[in-house]
Amino acid sequence: MSKILIVDDEPRILLLLQSLLKANGYVVETARDGNAALDIVRKGGIDIAVTDLRMTPMDGMTLFHEIKAIAPEIPVILLTAYASVETAIEAMKSGIFDYLTKPFKVDDLIACLKRAEERISKSATTAAKSEHPVRYRFENFIASSPLMASVCETIQKVAPTAATVLINGESGTGKEIIARTIHRNSTRAKRPWVAVNCAAIPENLLESEMFGHVKGSFTGAVADKEGLFEAANGGTLFLDEISSMPLLLQGKLLRVLQEKEIRRVGGTKSIPVDVRVIAASNANLEEAVVKGTFRSDLYYRFAVITIDIPPLRKRPDDIIPLARHFIRAERSGTAPIPEISADAAKALMAYDWPGNVRELENAIKHALTFYHSGEITCDLLPPKILEHKAKSGQAVSAGDTNASLKSFLKQKEREYIEQILNNTGGDKEKAAEALKVNLSTLYRKLSDD
Ligand SMILES: Nc1ncnc2c1ncn2[C@@H]1O[C@H](COP(=O)(O)OP(=O)(O)OP(=O)(O)O)[C@@H](O)[C@H]1O
Ligand SMILES: [Mg+2]
Repeated sequence: MSKILIVDDEPRILLLLQSLLKANGYVVETARDGNAALDIVRKGGIDIAVTDLRMTPMDGMTLFHEIKAIAPEIPVILLTAYASVETAIEAMKSGIFDYLTKPFKVDDLIACLKRAEERISKSATTAAKSEHPVRYRFENFIASSPLMASVCETIQKVAPTAATVLINGESGTGKEIIARTIHRNSTRAKRPWVAVNCAAIPENLLESEMFGHVKGSFTGAVADKEGLFEAANGGTLFLDEISSMPLLLQGKLLRVLQEKEIRRVGGTKSIPVDVRVIAASNANLEEAVVKGTFRSDLYYRFAVITIDIPPLRKRPDDIIPLARHFIRAERSGTAPIPEISADAAKALMAYDWPGNVRELENAIKHALTFYHSGEITCDLLPPKILEHKAKSGQAVSAGDTNASLKSFLKQKEREYIEQILNNTGGDKEKAAEALKVNLSTLYRKLSDD
């Protein structure tokens, strides 16, 4: 029988649901707040989570995002005291399994749990059939969105090999952290990790930096010096901004990759090196090849395994989990970890993040600098994020939540379903899959007037 986690800050309801579900043969664990719930999820063994929406300090939606970051396979059912428009839309978009509006009948909850169990057994069958495990958990690396799942899959596949990897992505998308994650999950994890930014070192010094030099080989070479390749021996060398590497040096690098030995500047001796090279670029290397500023043979050597990191604006599901990760990282020792208010979360979701994850990290640092107590609210965020929100007009003010809430909610839901149906060319099965609802639920929602 499935193990259900129930989260509610009202002990009475918790007890009631617990006994009802137990009577229906379920194994039940309970938690009175989000943090206690996450502790239980981390321990493993939970099949389905049922959470109240209105809770402090962590609300149900935040808890859902957190659970998704830890164990994306757990279906989460949301209990709402009243249908909240924004939450329902957000819930639909971000993959809440289903939500029940209070008061609900026990049968409704049981039916909902049965559907969740069906989905679990279906995805277990798919997972068993697929060659690769579907779960990825890399230390300090957050990935909740479907786009990042395929990045994680590549990381997992290439990490144990010795293959050269090329990582492409806009500035701040996480190129370096991905390179490090590959290193940490490789057989070289305990050997050196050496990073060099090719754009930060003057052209004439880069060669001696990378390969070392012998005494007297040029003015200022007062002693023999080991280069980064030797320093990284047995480990991984990360060449950041590889497009800035001078052509001549590109040729030398290619030779080192092929022959696995280096020669210090001014030296005659070949020194064997065992180094895995990971390169990163935020410039389009293919274009650089066409322009003649990047050697095509070196490009093809690297391009065998390429990881393209999507910009943050293309993977909104990562925003809140990343924000919470940065909050945790910034709070030292036993300092309480503040929650993100619903308004602030909405502003973070609405912004388009030209500076990607690094900009989000800075926004959180900014908020924590001004933070006092309670939740992290909108006014703590950098002004440009709020300006953007005001312009995009996504905010729903309190005045909008009036008696016609239900019809507004239905309309929004309908619009969203239609948009997804459009994307799937009218294929309801695919749309239901994308919306993470049962096909029958989709039909019901479509026939609702
Ligand atoms: N998925 C992630 N999980 C956790 N932290 C992340 C993630 N992606 C990026 N970061 C953090 O965001 C910041 C920027 O990432 P990183 O330095 O890896 O980006 P980059 O693509 O190398 O940027 P640049 O092009 O500016 O060099 C770092 O502090 C990094 O730790
Ligand atoms: Mg970088």
